[in-house]
Amino acid sequence: MRIFSGIQPTGRKHLGNYIGAITHYVAGQDLGESIYCVVDLHATTVAYDPAALRESSYDTAATLLAAGLEPDRCIFFRQSDVAEQTELCWLLSGVAAFGELGRMTQFKDKSASQRDLVSAGLFFYPVLMAADVLAYRSTDVPVGDDQRQHVELMRDIAQRFNARFGETLVVPEGRYPAVGARIMDLQFPERKMSTTGTSPQGTVYVLDEPDVVAKKIRSAVTDSGAEVVRAPDKPGVSNLIEILAAVRGTDLEAVEHEFDSSGYGEIGRASCRERV
Ligand code: TYM
Repeated sequence: MRIFSGIQPTGRKHLGNYIGAITHYVAGQDLGESIYCVVDLHATTVAYDPAALRESSYDTAATLLAAGLEPDRCIFFRQSDVAEQTELCWLLSGVAAFGELGRMTQFKDKSASQRDLVSAGLFFYPVLMAADVLAYRSTDVPVGDDQRQHVELMRDIAQRFNARFGETLVVPEGRYPAVGARIMDLQFPERKMSTTGTSPQGTVYVLDEPDVVAKKIRSAVTDSGAEVVRAPDKPGVSNLIEILAAVRGTDLEAVEHEFDSSGYGEIGRASCRERV
């Protein structure tokens, strides 16, 4: 097994990154050869300040090291230091279809939020992501649920390349966490927790002090009911169940069962007590 994953150095890393990706990078070090990359070139697809990007690449690297990446047990590097990845991106662009790139939901969302310029880089983003993974003949790609479409696209690109030029590239599998693949904003639980576009109060940052984390969890939006169960009309409570199960390493049913008669206050307090 050869694992590859990447993380953008933009903004502060949050609980969604941590639960959906970073903990799985750390665990991957025990499962096989692991390669992790701070994808600074992906961050140039939207407006950026070069000096700030350089700084935040170091900050992101420090966060991952603090979370448990060990450079003698994995390969950990910055994307722009390996020029071959961008070179492969160009070669893959010959088998990436214009139409499928335009259908990527992240491209549609991100391009809609750009004020001045929708860059061609934003459109090309998934091809560079494919190059990251395919350059290393990686077999497994641990990511959160929001990257599913990009992983499917890189599989299509690899298959198309192989069909045209003979078996060259390894077709990788996406690995999505069974619990915590899509952590939602605590204030707007119908939206994904993310660096951009959500509320600071609803986003738990990995560098938040424990009392700040507890406050954000305590003020998480729930609903007027009392039952601690997952349901489409209970996005806030479903999210808290997901978060608690993920940080405890248990399944979702165990959390529902534990709190089935105690109401929302208790699951909030239990979540505040957990240390990640
Ligand atoms: P990025 O930097 O946006 O996010 C890093 C990882 O965090 C996951 N994630 C989440 N998981 C659960 N709940 C959430 N709310 C949440 N928000 C983010 C993401 O799924 C991701 O795994 N395009 C990628 C970076 C990339 C990459 C790659 C990934 C570039 N090349 C090659 C894998 C393989 C991205 O923007 O991730």
